[in-house]
Amino acid sequence: MRAIVCSEFAPLDALRVVESPTPEPGPDQVRIAVTAAGVNFVDALFVQGKYQIKPPLPFVPGNEVAGVIDAVGGGVDAPAIGARVFANVGLGGYASHVVIDARRVMHTPDSLTDGQAATFTQSYMTAWFALRERARAQAGQRLLVLGAGGGVGLAAVDVGAALGLHVLAAASSPEKRALAADRGAEQVVDSSSEDVKERAKEWSGGGVDLVYDPVGGPQGEAALRALADDGQFLVIGFASGAIPQLPANQVLLRNRRVTGVDWGGWVGKGHAAANQQMLQAVLAEITAGRLRPVEPTSYAFDDVARALEDQVERRVAGKTALVP
Ligand SMILES: NC(=O)c1ccc[n+]([C@@H]2O[C@H](COP(=O)([O-])OP(=O)(O)OC[C@H]3O[C@@H](n4cnc5c(N)ncnc54)[C@H](OP(=O)(O)O)[C@@H]3O)[C@@H](O)[C@H]2O)c1
Repeated sequence: MRAIVCSEFAPLDALRVVESPTPEPGPDQVRIAVTAAGVNFVDALFVQGKYQIKPPLPFVPGNEVAGVIDAVGGGVDAPAIGARVFANVGLGGYASHVVIDARRVMHTPDSLTDGQAATFTQSYMTAWFALRERARAQAGQRLLVLGAGGGVGLAAVDVGAALGLHVLAAASSPEKRALAADRGAEQVVDSSSEDVKERAKEWSGGGVDLVYDPVGGPQGEAALRALADDGQFLVIGFASGAIPQLPANQVLLRNRRVTGVDWGGWVGKGHAAANQQMLQAVLAEITAGRLRPVEPTSYAFDDVARALEDQVERRVAGKTALVP
């Protein structure tokens, strides 16, 4: 098999594609012949040693995969050899083959390509968890999404629109804004040249009900001020590299709320069953055509450094996948 190995915390071009014997599944395990491995923003941080969690070296990065079952271990009735599947594997996804517990594998709906199946879970589960579980968003509310052409941002536009929210999408490039508009954003704003706070206030007639912020820094700080009375600011991430310093007086003044969203942490703290139910709900929306995960931009394994660089340099609209 082929796998992308991180053997030192170093710049992205230190990643290497390594050949090794293809692993065999043990009891209750299956092997996935990977056709697409999803890339997430956090992967680039992991391999450079810039994330709070540092896996023991060497390791194979990558959490999301899709492909076909090509071997099963003892005691496995399903999925069968030949089934199209996707899975969240934690680490080890940037590989041509992945061995995993059969219970952690999901069938890929016919409506999804392998590229979509390998790239939707992290972004859509985060968006769904944020808007449904944390914010308890209601149809008719006005939602401002920052970084709306990136992974978790675009998913929030899609989920928000499907829930009946009015969505204003902020993104830096025409391509990203076009994707957000296609996923149901009522209006788009150019975050590289326009005043997002003023546009949001204008659009909503005084203030938005929800801000979804995966960007942080000055963009996040300004967006807090675009919230209406009782409005809620959802802290999703800090893609800009800067943690926003949200002024407490701005929270107090209009009875605003700031809500943390840590989907992965929530799942890990005893909510695996609830997460599985949430995934089924998201899949049902996808199958019904109400949610439409984006087709990712694909790169060959040998181009992994370029793929990750394009991601962190904001050149990718939507999602990215690696193809073994
Ligand atoms: N809370 C959770 O549970 C959770 C789950 C998954 C991910 N996250 C976090 O959410 C954040 C975004 O993840 P993602 O997968 O959506 O990433 P992504 O696909 O790379 O999108 C991030 C967006 O942030 C914007 N951005 C602004 N300044 C940036 C900068 N200096 N560098 C890179 N991007 C910048 C870019 O949009 P513009 O070019 O339009 O500005 C970019 O499209 C990350 O911090 C990630 O760790 C959180």
